[in-house]
Amino acid sequence: MNKVVLITGGSSGIGKSVGEFLHHKGFVVYGTSRNPERVLNSVFPLVALDVRNTESIQSAIAKIIAVTGRLDVVINNAGVGITGPLEEIPTSEIKNNFETNFFGPIEVMKAALPQMRQQKSGLIINVTSIAGYMGLPYRSVYSASKGALELITEALNMEVKSFGINITNVAPGDFATNIASGRFHAPLIKGSAYEIPYAKTLAMMDEHVDSGSNPNEMALAIYNIIQTKNPKVHYKVGAFMQKFSIVLKRLLPDKIYEKMLMNHYKL
Ligand SMILES: NC(=O)c1ccc[n+]([C@@H]2O[C@H](COP(=O)([O-])OP(=O)(O)OC[C@H]3O[C@@H](n4cnc5c(N)ncnc54)[C@H](OP(=O)(O)O)[C@@H]3O)[C@@H](O)[C@H]2O)c1
Repeated sequence: MNKVVLITGGSSGIGKSVGEFLHHKGFVVYGTSRNPERVLNSVFPLVALDVRNTESIQSAIAKIIAVTGRLDVVINNAGVGITGPLEEIPTSEIKNNFETNFFGPIEVMKAALPQMRQQKSGLIINVTSIAGYMGLPYRSVYSASKGALELITEALNMEVKSFGINITNVAPGDFATNIASGRFHAPLIKGSAYEIPYAKTLAMMDEHVDSGSNPNEMALAIYNIIQTKNPKVHYKVGAFMQKFSIVLKRLLPDKIYEKMLMNHYKL
């Protein structure tokens, strides 16, 4: 029987690539979008869902289960970026980011778990970020939202293992998608104490995304995780140095690691 997969944020970037790849491999794929009617030519069906709206999550999952009778894989992919000096990011935007990147995926997991427990099987893949393994300057809120989801993943995996369910996270490095255009940028404030270093870091971040890897690499990685009998709790996908930065954080003294990051961002 073909596995039923739900991927949040299937309208662009990583979610679209993963959805297309799994569809072509024969999975029964459902994606989501806040505005499915605006997305033309999706090769798999898109259900309306906003991760900030619990009712829309429950209704989307109920609709899929009503049609398929099961839910084998959920990929919590929907997410948004946020940049800025912490002092200058409006608190409402910090909360909004956590609603999408942290509370949203939790609500999706809560809505999917009853069906998975009933089936005695299921896999939830949380798309986090390499930035979630370290606090990055001018990306504090993004790092924190993804890091928090990584810890939820670790904890929940132990809570549901005995029900035959696995929870894992996949942390991408930089991938060339629309993420930079959809991200909240705290405006550069003329005369602000952060104006010059933030402007430099922002330019560097945008360049990293534009020259990032092809999202098809994420599609292959996620396909391989789905095919793995006993998946690990953490996966990292991306350029060698981006993945290696997590290893360095474990190995190096804090002061040296911080210096290395500051040199990298020319701060
Ligand atoms: N690209 C990278 O370099 C990179 C690196 C690390 C991690 N990631 C993570 O990878 C995931 C996918 O990002 P991407 O790079 O593919 O970005 P993207 O091209 O901007 O796609 C984001 C997707 O999320 C959906 N989305 C955004 N807000 C949503 C909300 N409130 N409710 C439901 N869906 C929402 C969008 O769908 P609609 O607009 O159609 O609703 C869209 O399909 C994100 O979690 C991101 O944080 C990306």
